[in-house]
Amino acid sequence: MVRIFDTTLRDGEQAPGFSMNTAEKLQLARRLESLGVDVIEAGFPIASQGDFEAVREVARDIKHSTVAGLARARREDIDAALGALERAARPRVHVFLATSDLHLKHKLRISRTEALESIGKMVEYAKGHCPEVEFSAEDASRSDVEFLGQAFSVAADAGATILNAPDTVGYATPEEYGGMFRALRSKVSGRPGVIWSAHCHNDLGLAVANSLAAVKAGARQVECTINGIGERAGNAAMEEIAVALAVRPDRYETGTRLRLNELYATSRLLSEITGVSVPPNKAVVGANAFAHEAGIHQDGILKNPLTYQVISPEAVGVPAHRLVLGKHSGRNALRARLAELGVIISEDELRECYRQVMALADAKKEITDEDIKRLAGRPSANASISDVAV
Ligand code: KIV
Ligand code: ZN
Repeated sequence: MVRIFDTTLRDGEQAPGFSMNTAEKLQLARRLESLGVDVIEAGFPIASQGDFEAVREVARDIKHSTVAGLARARREDIDAALGALERAARPRVHVFLATSDLHLKHKLRISRTEALESIGKMVEYAKGHCPEVEFSAEDASRSDVEFLGQAFSVAADAGATILNAPDTVGYATPEEYGGMFRALRSKVSGRPGVIWSAHCHNDLGLAVANSLAAVKAGARQVECTINGIGERAGNAAMEEIAVALAVRPDRYETGTRLRLNELYATSRLLSEITGVSVPPNKAVVGANAFAHEAGIHQDGILKNPLTYQVISPEAVGVPAHRLVLGKHSGRNALRARLAELGVIISEDELRECYRQVMALADAKKEITDEDIKRLAGRPSANASISDVAV
């Protein structure tokens, strides 16, 4: 089973335009728990008083999911995380330190030896106060894999049971990222109970592909966000990973505990809270994800939805597939839509109605139900002037 670690409230919230207050975070956290998320990363408690309070409130409220608080490998960060997680039923301190030479030299200005020392000391400190500790090697995908193996060995020996190897800047390719997990699993072997974790950013549009490559290579936790929100181009989208695992068990031989039919409502709640809408072509939860306009596709869908859909809309909580009537649509789709609207007409009337719908479709982007009823000679009693105007 792949554990889903949701970081919408931390990495997602860090993105410009996505900040949430404590009440909003709590509302979303409850929804994530209902969705079946294994771990909710509620924030970075040292970052601000607001972040601390949000983690504290989420930790108090959530009973089934683990609640994680992020901390740099520093005592004051870990203390803040421990304070915020005090009332959590299942707390996890998430300690991170960069391991790439680029970050060590230019950002942290410490040597590899000093980094290993900090990892060992700080993971041990966190473990002394919290039953579950995760260690993340920031910029893992651009780190020397030998050194990365040493860093994870030190973290595991100090008590970390979840080892996360992020592609922090979205640079890795799926082959590379999967290869890194295979190498790490053999270098840091003989530690039963350790769970390897993937955390991918979407700078090259590869975050979901990389996360799946990591799963294929043995990772059993993926860190992701609702709608793929997150720093810069975002994090891996939870709904896409979960659905890919559900649709392709032949390929991945594992799944998640998520209630997939709550994905759509969760996605919409996040949009409502942040005021940022989901692009229509977004996989799984976009408005067009189950919409069909081309006549050939509509005909196929009406005969058997599997012809043009790899997953049913109901499975992810979308009310039903939508046959969109536009200039690419066929007569079968029009007949089906009219029947849905309770309008039964003869074949001759259908032919004429179709001709008029196509003429209108050349002038208008999308044909509404009111347009269809009017052209079929059954306008609604309360249709407004604008409904009937072209
Ligand atoms: O992208 C990253 O490396 C992170 C870590 C803090 C886990 O978000
Ligand atoms: Zn990240």
